[in-house]
Amino acid sequence: MNIIIKRFNKWDEGTKRKLRHATFVNGFIRKYLLVSPNGYSFVAFCDTQIMGWAYNFAIGNKNLFNIFVNPRFRNRGVATKLIELGVRKLEKIHVGHHNKASYSLFKKMKRKYPKNIIVLDWDKHWERMAKKIVLIFGKRFSFYHIMMRL
Ligand SMILES: CC(C)(COP(=O)(O)OP(=O)(O)OC[C@H]1O[C@@H](n2cnc3c(N)ncnc32)[C@H](O)[C@@H]1OP(=O)(O)O)[C@@H](O)C(=O)NCCC(=O)NCCS
Repeated sequence: MNIIIKRFNKWDEGTKRKLRHATFVNGFIRKYLLVSPNGYSFVAFCDTQIMGWAYNFAIGNKNLFNIFVNPRFRNRGVATKLIELGVRKLEKIHVGHHNKASYSLFKKMKRKYPKNIIVLDWDKHWERMAKKIVLIFGKRFSFYHIMMRL
């Protein structure tokens, strides 16, 4: 596994296209990329294939660290490595769990890096985050664009 860290908008168009699809179909990462495409991306490759990636969406002074691993490459430590690099590069990251796997992974990583990782329950936090996003980015993008367009 080889992980490259780059601002998203510095990738070539082919890689950007692949990364936009490496998320849930109507996933939040795509919405974040729409409003803020210059965040740091951490992309794990196996040769030329993307195993998974993390996108850091900076909201004010918070680093919202989003991870998606291709199902074929799960449970091989890809997300663990992405989080470790995220902590090293960004010092403090927020991660939002919304299922069993992410809950267990984030709690485990929090035990390892208690000062660097803040774990959020995404179902409770997403609405507040969305409002913050509109407040910060709403001059350029309407709530409709951010939440519904992609
Ligand atoms: C959550 C996700 C990122 C984990 O990626 P991964 O590369 O498989 O994770 P790793 O191999 O680094 O870590 C494995 C750990 O994750 C947790 N985990 C993974 N699958 C799990 C499952 N089915 N049930 C419970 N825990 C699970 C465990 O803590 C496991 O550690 P263990 O092996 O010591 O038990 C991946 O499943 C994913 O992309 N899911 C969809 C997107 C998502 O939910 N992202 C997180 C929120 S942004």
